[in-house]
Amino acid sequence: MEEMKKISLIEKYTVPSESNFFKLDANENLVLDKDFLTKISINSLKKTDLRKYPIELYERLYKKLSNYLDVSVGSLVLGSGSDQIIDLLLTLLGRGRRLASIYPTFSYFKTRCQLHGIDVSELKLSAIDNSLDSEKFIEDAKKSHAAYLCSPNNPTGNQFEKSKILRIVGSLKRTLVIVDEAYVEFAKYSLIKCVKEYPNLVVLRTFSKGLALAGARIGYMVANEKLADLFKNRIQLPYAVNSLSLAIAISLISNPKKVEKSIALIKDERDRMYESLSKIKKINVYKSDANFLFVRCNKKYNRIIEALENSKILVKGLGNIDTYGNCIRITVGTKKVNNKILSVFNNIQLTK
Ligand SMILES: Cc1ncc(COP(=O)(O)O)c(C=O)c1O
Repeated sequence: MEEMKKISLIEKYTVPSESNFFKLDANENLVLDKDFLTKISINSLKKTDLRKYPIELYERLYKKLSNYLDVSVGSLVLGSGSDQIIDLLLTLLGRGRRLASIYPTFSYFKTRCQLHGIDVSELKLSAIDNSLDSEKFIEDAKKSHAAYLCSPNNPTGNQFEKSKILRIVGSLKRTLVIVDEAYVEFAKYSLIKCVKEYPNLVVLRTFSKGLALAGARIGYMVANEKLADLFKNRIQLPYAVNSLSLAIAISLISNPKKVEKSIALIKDERDRMYESLSKIKKINVYKSDANFLFVRCNKKYNRIIEALENSKILVKGLGNIDTYGNCIRITVGTKKVNNKILSVFNNIQLTK
């Protein structure tokens, strides 16, 4: 009972609401045509025998994914969303251990650390340009059993320089470094090819964001083959992903043109939104390498959220983030919805 009391004090995960709003609060890819995915899903269901465990489908997705990413099958481990892989990694790390991270970052990761009794230390990013002091991070991580970095970072949207991250990974040879690349399809580089060289590096990836399959719950990790083998065959559940999700994922990456086009469109729209929002006084928007924009609303936070809500636009209100002040995170949507957001911002009188 004592343990339950402690758990009840951990911040509750509030599931983003499903309403008649334009949902721009969870960084899903809502630009890819829904009917296209429905068609793939129906065809996948027709080809799937739900009476059987997904042995063959697992093999096929591992092979397809290995080709798609150009990494070995042996370096991949699938999971039920990257959330589930995060949980396994934290189980492995164990109660009473210490983990080095940054602030702000993916808040759910910290919540799970609390549940697993892992002590998280957080190095603050610079509120000026979201940059990371890699030397300070290394210093802190040397006192820790593991480190977590999100690349590009949620919610700030920036990807730290590749040389900085590799310096961190290379300086912490005895520490597990988890690099969460949930938004990498929108970014400049990935570290998946570096796992051969750095056995302490684990890269987390997902089908939920760029690949538009948040509802299918498929994530994966890319790691050195020895670590991946340990994970796949001793730690991970044998069938963490169901047959239908596996079949849909196989189909999507066998014919990735449409989804890749939607990613390119989101990137263009993100940059256009950034240019427009940076002209608005009283707010600060940061350049993004992801599919969302991080906006400091300063004193206009409540007014901005209210105006967006009145236009039926749901964004992620992040509240007060230390030296950043009150911030929101907006997922980049279709051109039409993005124009709506821009007109809301342009219509609010952002004067004193
Ligand atoms: C940085 C980051 N990692 C992981 C996840 C979880 O992704 P999945 O849907 O694969 O569990 C999210 C989802 O918001 C995220 O922002």
